[in-house]
Amino acid sequence: MKNLINKLETEKALSKEEFVQLIANFNEESSDYLFQRAAIVRQKVYGNDVYIRGLIEISSYCKRNCLYCGIRAGNKNAERYRLTKEEILACCQIGDELGFKTFVLQGGEDTYYTDELLVDIVHSIKEKYPENAVTLSLGEKSYESYKMLREAGADRYLLRHETANESHYSQLHPASMSSEERKRSLRDLKRLGYQFGTGFMVGTPFQTPELLAEDMLFIHEMQPQMVGIGPFIPHHETPFADQQAGSVPLTLFMLGLLRLMLPHALLPSTTALGTAETDGRERGILAGANVIMPNLSPLDVRKKYMIYDNKIATGLEAAESLAGLKKSMEKIGYRIVETRGDFRVMNYEL
Ligand code: 5AD
Repeated sequence: MKNLINKLETEKALSKEEFVQLIANFNEESSDYLFQRAAIVRQKVYGNDVYIRGLIEISSYCKRNCLYCGIRAGNKNAERYRLTKEEILACCQIGDELGFKTFVLQGGEDTYYTDELLVDIVHSIKEKYPENAVTLSLGEKSYESYKMLREAGADRYLLRHETANESHYSQLHPASMSSEERKRSLRDLKRLGYQFGTGFMVGTPFQTPELLAEDMLFIHEMQPQMVGIGPFIPHHETPFADQQAGSVPLTLFMLGLLRLMLPHALLPSTTALGTAETDGRERGILAGANVIMPNLSPLDVRKKYMIYDNKIATGLEAAESLAGLKKSMEKIGYRIVETRGDFRVMNYEL
């Protein structure tokens, strides 16, 4: 396994068969070696720095019906809320005071937020906080909508591809959604000059090492600046309620592979990882991640943005607990920095 890990580090690519071999046979030994190499690579690019993003969950309304997601339209018991422009700006104000230089507006696909309203919101944030980056994570939109938002000042966009394989995609989504459309959206975002992120869940129903290898190849082809991955965690009011949760060790292994394939990528240690295991977030950093996205949403709505069961919302992942998060990172040899943390291609030589 070491030879394949070394090959990935030097060539930043592997064939599908090679990825399958690594993923299907991953174990503690190969993980330890991978994490060592990933830490070295990440050190060369970003040092010990860990970037923070203030996550504002603007709406739990969603018109989609993704089979895995707790805020799917079909979940009649989901608690719904949406934030007004003023409420979003109030979150930004708190975040700015806490030292956040990136605001991530994430939400279900909620038609209440028209292009005009979103443009106004992005404009207002950028006007008030010109030094700060704005990341959007609001699902699939037309090229024209993405363009308007980019022109309004949005810097980055997150849209996970979920799975690169068409038939697997259709096992996880209703017939009204397609892998093709998701990929079209991602290509549009790239073309418009967003720093864009994609990603997938580890351990979704029907996933195999071959499918994970296809995710790696798709990510290689797209060369995103950010990749978000986390374990699948079942939500009790979805068709996948009785499915098994994804494996944390495999999620960490995939993070390590991503660090070697995309040395400069911004890789969050996700809330799902922190939910699946108490020390999940720290382990994500040790496996190769370099971003943490604490929750800046108003306290009274946090429990309503339940995309999977038991999603953590008020521990160290909460923006108010930044001091504690800083300490937990220092303990493992990393430091939280208060800069925008843009993608960069400097500082890396083999
Ligand atoms: N478990 C883990 N992650 C989930 N997501 C949605 N539902 C779940 C779940 N049950 C992820 C998806 C989505 C992101 C916002 O959250 O990958 O893109």
